Formats: sequence, structure tokens, C-alpha cells
Amino acid sequence: MERRSDQPVILASRQELSPSCFALELLCPGPLTATPGQFIMLGPTAGADPLLRRPFSVAGVGESPRGVLVQLLVKEVGKFTSLLRRLPIGSELSLLGPLGQGFRLLEAPPRPVLVAGGIGLPPVLFAARELSQRGIPFDLFYGAASSHELLLPQEVKRATNGLAVFCTDDGSFGEQGLVTEVLRRLWQKSYSRILACGPTPMLYAVAQLARERQVEAELSLEEPMACGVGVCLGCVVRLHDGSYVPSCQAGPVFLASQLAERW
Ligand SMILES: Cc1cc2nc3c(=O)[nH]c(=O)nc-3n(C[C@H](O)[C@H](O)[C@H](O)COP(=O)(O)OP(=O)(O)OC[C@H]3O[C@@H](n4cnc5c(N)ncnc54)[C@H](O)[C@@H]3O)c2cc1C
Ligand code: FES
Repeated sequence: MERRSDQPVILASRQELSPSCFALELLCPGPLTATPGQFIMLGPTAGADPLLRRPFSVAGVGESPRGVLVQLLVKEVGKFTSLLRRLPIGSELSLLGPLGQGFRLLEAPPRPVLVAGGIGLPPVLFAARELSQRGIPFDLFYGAASSHELLLPQEVKRATNGLAVFCTDDGSFGEQGLVTEVLRRLWQKSYSRILACGPTPMLYAVAQLARERQVEAELSLEEPMACGVGVCLGCVVRLHDGSYVPSCQAGPVFLASQLAERW
């Protein structure tokens, strides 16, 4: 059972991955464990700008002699992600986590297929590493707009114990086309569950494919979040039965069958 902590962390490393994305390692002096699909809320130390922490999926957790290292993959889109790209190594940040419900890896379906789109890669990469460690066979489909936006292709290949299929919208690397179209084309009857994270239109397409193939899909949603702990209700999503739940607490990973068709 993971214990949530609110702790100061140190920006330990940063690696540029693409024109818009980079990888970070955060050094946590206190204990922190996480499962794939869980997220953290990260911000500057108290009182600094921006005031609200931002949600990021955990891409991996490792040990170092000085504490736990949390790995993130980040796309620069606005105020805080720009700050993260420029912040000096060694700076202090404030982390709350791990938060939310991750992928149900222990339910161990016979053969899952993993799908990532763009900056949806972090929880999928974490899930791939965990499934490989548990000896559960799976294939992985990863799509991005172009070869420049495909993050860590070697790392993704290494983490996958089955087929790793790369797709780009412009055909500059791997299969040409949207990742969901390529998955539909290369679908194997043995796939028993889809685990996915990416932009909402991609997740709608994954949910549709899962319905057609009569398998369950686990979708990691990225609804904008302000508090991350169920207080502000800014992240609610609509369920199949018409009720609403905060994505930060009931998710961010949901079974597609639980969700409304357009959540
Ligand atoms: C559970 C969860 C996990 C996430 N994991 C990652 C991750 O691993 N890596 C990563 O780079 N990003 C991730 N995000 C998105 C990330 O939280 C936002 O990109 C970030 O909050 C933007 O902060 P900012 O201050 O840079 O941008 P802001 O200045 O706050 O916003 C810039 C622009 O981005 C838009 N925006 C903000 N949040 C989102 C969002 N969730 N979806 C779509 N548009 C948004 C705003 O509307 C605005 O147009 C995740 C979001 C959630 C909810
Ligand atoms: S982000 Fe505040 S309730 Fe979910």
C-alpha cells in the first residue's frame, strides 16, 4: 500500500528529449512508492508562482543512495512546464503524491496491449516495465505526430517484452497513421485488454475499438486538475450511469466500461 506524502524534493537531473519534451528526475528524501498510472502534484515551494501544483504521471521510481528518484516526462505547454525546463539542477520543488488509482496490473489479463499517444507515454512506459518484470507478455503501440516527437524509442523497446510498434502521423518513423488506426490494422485476437494514455480523442478511439473487439480498456485520463485530492471538483468526469466523479480520486485510470461514451 503506497503512502501519500507532501514533501520538498530536489530537481536531480533533466534531459532534453524533443523540441518540446524533456525528462526529469526528482530526488525525494522521504519514502515514496507508486504504481503505474498514479500521478503526483508538483509545484514550486510554498508561496512561489504558480501557486497551484500541476499533475504529472509517474514514469518510474528508482532508488539512489540519497533517496527515492521519481522519473517524469514533461511537455512544455505553459507557465510551470516552462519553469521546469529552465530551473537550475538542485532547485527545491514541492511534491504531493502518489495520488489516484493506477492500472490494475494485478488483475493480470492473459495478454494486454499497451497504447500511448504523445505525452501519454509516461504511465504506459511505467506499466510496460512492471509487466515485463512480472513476466506478463504484452505488445506496445506508441504514436506521435512525427519522429521528433517520439520520446525514448530505445527505452520503450527495451521495456517491451513483445512487439513494440511505433507510429507517426506524418510517416517519418515507423508505421504511418494514428496509433489507434495502426492498432486496429494490426489487432491480434489474443489481446485481452487495452491499457492506454494519450489525448482525449485517442482515448475515445481506444474505447470504441475495445467495444468493437469486446475487450475491456483501462484509460488513463488527463483532465486538468487544480487540487489533485478531490476538493475542488474541477476534474469531474461522467460515468456510464450519468453520475460524476473526480478524476483525481476515482481515476485517473478508469475502465472504459465505467465511463460515459463522451466523459
Ligand atoms: C493525471 C494527469 C497526468 C499528467 N501527466 C503528465 C505528464 O506525465 N507529462 C506532461 O507533460 N503533462 C502531464 N499532464 C498535463 C500537465 O498537468 C499539464 O500540461 C500542466 O499542468 C501544464 O501546466 P503549465 O503551467 O505548464 O501550463 P498552463 O499555463 O497551466 O496551461 C497551458 C495550456 O495547457 C492547457 N492544459 C493544462 N493542463 C492540461 C491538461 N491536463 N490537458 C490538456 N491541456 C492542459 C491549458 O488549458 C493551457 O491552454 C498530466 C495531467 C493530468 C491530469
Ligand atoms: S483536481 Fe480537485 S477534485 Fe480533482
